[in-house]
Order: sequence, then C-alpha cells, then structure tokens
Amino acid sequence: EDDIFILALESSCDETAASVTKNGLEVLSNVVSSQVELHKKFGGVVPEIASRKHLELLLPVIDEALEKAGLEFADLDAVAATYGPGLVGGLLVGLTAAKAISLSLEIPLIAVNHIAGHIYANFIDNPEIKKPLICLTISGGHTDLLYFEDLKGYEILGRTRDDAAGEAFDKIARYMGLGYPGGPAIEKAAQNGNPEAVDFPRAVMNDNSFDFSFSGLKTAVMNYINNQKQKNIKINKADLAASFQEAVIDSLSSKLLEAVEKYNIKSVVLSGGVAANQRLREIVASKMKELEIDFYYPSLELCTDNAAMIGAVAYYQYLDRDFASLAISADPSLKL
Ligand code: KG4
Ligand code: ZN
Repeated sequence: EDDIFILALESSCDETAASVTKNGLEVLSNVVSSQVELHKKFGGVVPEIASRKHLELLLPVIDEALEKAGLEFADLDAVAATYGPGLVGGLLVGLTAAKAISLSLEIPLIAVNHIAGHIYANFIDNPEIKKPLICLTISGGHTDLLYFEDLKGYEILGRTRDDAAGEAFDKIARYMGLGYPGGPAIEKAAQNGNPEAVDFPRAVMNDNSFDFSFSGLKTAVMNYINNQKQKNIKINKADLAASFQEAVIDSLSSKLLEAVEKYNIKSVVLSGGVAANQRLREIVASKMKELEIDFYYPSLELCTDNAAMIGAVAYYQYLDRDFASLAISADPSLKL
C-alpha cells in the first residue's frame, strides 16, 4: 500500500509521452507518440504544429499509459510534467494537463527539469548502479559534469563556458558541409580518418575548475579550413573530422578523469545525445576499466525523449515534498 504511483507527462519537443512509474525507477508503462514524420518534410520541428499535435495526442497517450500500467486515475499518488527547457507551446500542453489532473484528483503536482530526466534515464536502466557517481551530460545544449552522492540530488562540478559539446559537433559539421545533426555525420566521416592528422588545441582551464570550453577549438578548425582553402590544398574530410572529434573527446574525457581522480566514486555515467558517440564510449570505457570503476550509458529507448525518465526524477522530488503550485509556468530556457 506504500507504493507510490506517479503519472508523468513529457511534451517539450516533438514526442508526446506519458508514463506510469512505481516507486521511481520501476516503469509500468512508457508510451511515446512521435511526431518526427510530421516535421521531417519541414527539415526540423515546427513549434506551432508541434503544440497542436501535442494537444491532439496527449489525452489518448495518457489513457494508454494508465491502461498499460493496469491502473486508474484514482490510483495515482502524484502527477508530473516537464516544465522546461523546450518549446513553450508543447511544454504548456503537458503542464496544463498535469495541473488539471492535480486539481481534479487532489494529488500533488511535480514540475520536472527535462535535462534531469535524461540523466535519471540511466538509473532506470541500471537501478543497482553504485554510488557515489559522476555523470557527464553532453547534448546539443548542455555540457555538465555532475556529482551524485545518492539519487536524491546532485552537485554541479563543471559546465561549458561557451558552446555545448553537441553544438560544437553541429557547427563544425555545417561548416564542413556534412549536414544535420552534426554529431552522427562527423562520427561517420571520421571512421576512416586519422585522429592525429591535425593537432587541434585542447582547452585547458588553468583555474582548477571542471569547466569545459569548445569555442577555441571551433575557431581553430574554421581557421584550418580557411587556410587550406587559401593555399588551394584539398582537405581530407575524414582526417579533419577524426582530428576534430578526437579533440572534443580528449577535452571531455580528460576533465572527466580528473574529476574521477578527485572524488571517491564508484560509477561513471554518460547521458545526452553526444553519449551516442562510439569513440567516446570506447575511450571512457577503457579508462574506467583500468580504474575499476563501473561505467554506464543509456539504452536507446530511454536515451531519446520519453516520460518514464520524467517520472523517475519526479519520485525523488515527491520524497522531498518538492511540489509545484498551480501557478507555475513553463520555462523554455530552464537550466539544470
Ligand atoms: O540529447 P540530444 O538528443 O538533444 C538535446 O540537445 O537535448 O542531443 C543532440 C546532440 C546534437 O548536437 C548531436 O549532434 C549530438 O547530440 N550527437 C552526437 C552523436 N549523436 C548525436 N554527437 C557526437 N557523436 C554522435 N554519434
Ligand atoms: Zn531531450
């Protein structure tokens, strides 16, 4: 009877999602209705279309999540929704629905940060993960190094001072004419390249911080390309992609390693889109193996946007009585 059932909603981008979780990390249902096909012909997510689609899909998705969990509205202990960061129209659809459910069922409303959701997705896959742990969150908008004593909260050790890691991949890929999203395009182009072909700078912070910086590297790559063009030297795209990728991975993994050495931790976790990078995974995996530290990255299903990860965060907020008032609004540029 002490089990806590939370209905969680996610609608920050182009996935309409609802999930029921039991005691945080046990996922009873995880329904995701993707709008990807709808937006494809426009070459990206169209916010107006996305919010209208969320409005249309959300209630059926909630019904399906409850049905798959074998529960009814009356069984719920709390309702959670992503309130940022993301597209304001979509966020408002999920948050408003959660408010209505909270009000009518007289259960707490929990407002969840989407980025925290991506991090907690790891803990759903690996509930037995040993703590304390360090998590490196690397996406198109974030580069955050986090310390978790337990799963109840985190301390930010470092973050990027300029571009996010994924943003650097996207910008350089565009500059090289490799298309969007840049990360997978660079990784593919780098496959047959020599990572030591061009010696790009690794940003060094001389202040003992765990912060990152990628704008210097970005400028160096652009200067290199322009220089070669001026000299009429043909650029080897594979070598260039591999050298750039290596510089990013080197910056990420060396900072991560420094933090691992300083803090007495048991596990290291990657999250965010850049965590899909195979070379990064291999390099971190081999270093953690040497140090005998457990290493995890998320499964594909929980890596992309979903509501189970929102439910996981919501459970720990529930334990803390960290509830939102009905007056809360969406925050499109919410930080971690
Ligand atoms: O977490 P995510 O899917 O979305 C948010 O930004 O919230 O991350 C997307 C980012 C993009 O910048 C993309 O280029 C990068 O992750 N990315 C990669 C790879 N796959 C996606 N970066 C490097 N290597 C990859 N294989
Ligand atoms: Zn996301």
